[in-house]
Amino acid sequence: MLELSKRLSIIAGLIKEGSGVCDVGTDHGYLPAFLYLSGKAKKVIATDINEKPLLSARKNLDRLGASGVKLFLCDGLADVEDQNVDTVVIAGMGGEVISGIINRARFLRDSAVTLILQPTTAAKELRLFLAKNGFTVESETALAENNKIYSIMCARFDGDTYSIDDVRSVIGLLKPDNDAAIAYIQKQYKIAQKCAEQLKSANNKKEEYSYYLKLSDKLKEILGG
Ligand SMILES: C[S@@+](CC[C@H](N)C(=O)[O-])C[C@H]1O[C@@H](n2cnc3c(N)ncnc32)[C@H](O)[C@@H]1O
Repeated sequence: MLELSKRLSIIAGLIKEGSGVCDVGTDHGYLPAFLYLSGKAKKVIATDINEKPLLSARKNLDRLGASGVKLFLCDGLADVEDQNVDTVVIAGMGGEVISGIINRARFLRDSAVTLILQPTTAAKELRLFLAKNGFTVESETALAENNKIYSIMCARFDGDTYSIDDVRSVIGLLKPDNDAAIAYIQKQYKIAQKCAEQLKSANNKKEEYSYYLKLSDKLKEILGG
């Protein structure tokens, strides 16, 4: 059986048995291959905006015996709106790119569709986009791999927009109850602390300084002082 990286295994673990899954920006195709071969998903499709990664996905899928996974060369979910998927994975891209893909796919505005999102950067921008556009984040899982730390979010549309405070925008729903989540919060704390330090003596940046100072104090408190 194909062995997934820790990051992709956590994502696979968040997918419900019997789902119809679309992996957006699949690249190598390992996640769809695993879902297809394990029988966890009843239907698996994948997209990529670039031809080269899609060809590499096709090659890997065929080599692994997962030729039944249908691939689409398109931007985000543009060509798969009629494919009846109930679970969409968008992983390994920046938060702004992920937000754009969600924004352009109107069929995601449906509470029957589960979104599994793993931004590599700009997680804050993604959380703010989800809040502003009526997508509830149901869970977040932190993951540390290859000296990098990520959050994986499960979200769903319910149409209710909401605001999130400064702390929630940078750590989401994460709590310091496991090593990866502690590392994620610590990273945000260090960033806020560094920004505050850099802005301290800039006379025209008092507001920004105060934002980062307050944020770092709150994150420190969450980490137990
Ligand atoms: C770093 S790879 C991530 C691969 C895989 N999802 C993972 O998490 O391991 C990013 C992939 O997303 C694709 N991509 C970027 N923007 C996209 C878009 N708007 N629609 C579909 N695919 C996109 C890229 O071509 C690339 O293959």
